[in-house]
Amino acid sequence: MFDIKDLYQEIIVDHNRNPRNFGIIDNADKIIEGFNPLCGDKLKLYLKTEGQNIADISFDGSGCAISVASASLMTDAMKGKSINDAELLFNSFHNLITNENGADEKSLGKLAVLAGVKDFPARVKCATLCWHTLHSAITGDKETVSTE
Ligand code: FES
Repeated sequence: MFDIKDLYQEIIVDHNRNPRNFGIIDNADKIIEGFNPLCGDKLKLYLKTEGQNIADISFDGSGCAISVASASLMTDAMKGKSINDAELLFNSFHNLITNENGADEKSLGKLAVLAGVKDFPARVKCATLCWHTLHSAITGDKETVSTE
């Protein structure tokens, strides 16, 4: 019988094996590093903005399947978004993954495949590593973001 969880699992595996937007953007105007000290995984986020929009976004580095799949899905979702919409999406995804404030899964599109992570608290930081890195790239002036 068809199980939506199997489909979600397949999408996560696909984004880990063939990550979208993986690599360097040569003319990025922001480069910020995210670090999970619990496991030592690091990823770098490259951001190119035009006015108030994210014109291009990519990542590289190494991480577990969840962190790579999350970065792949996030960069796909963020390309072309305004900074304001990116922040709204950050908040919705954070609600989804921490199970706070009743996240609207439908508004998250493909990102909803990561909803199951909330049942595994140790993996929440894996899924949110790239998101906190982007949040800091947009709002702050740190060059490195830690999940701790
Ligand atoms: Fe390191 Fe997931 S185990 S980010």
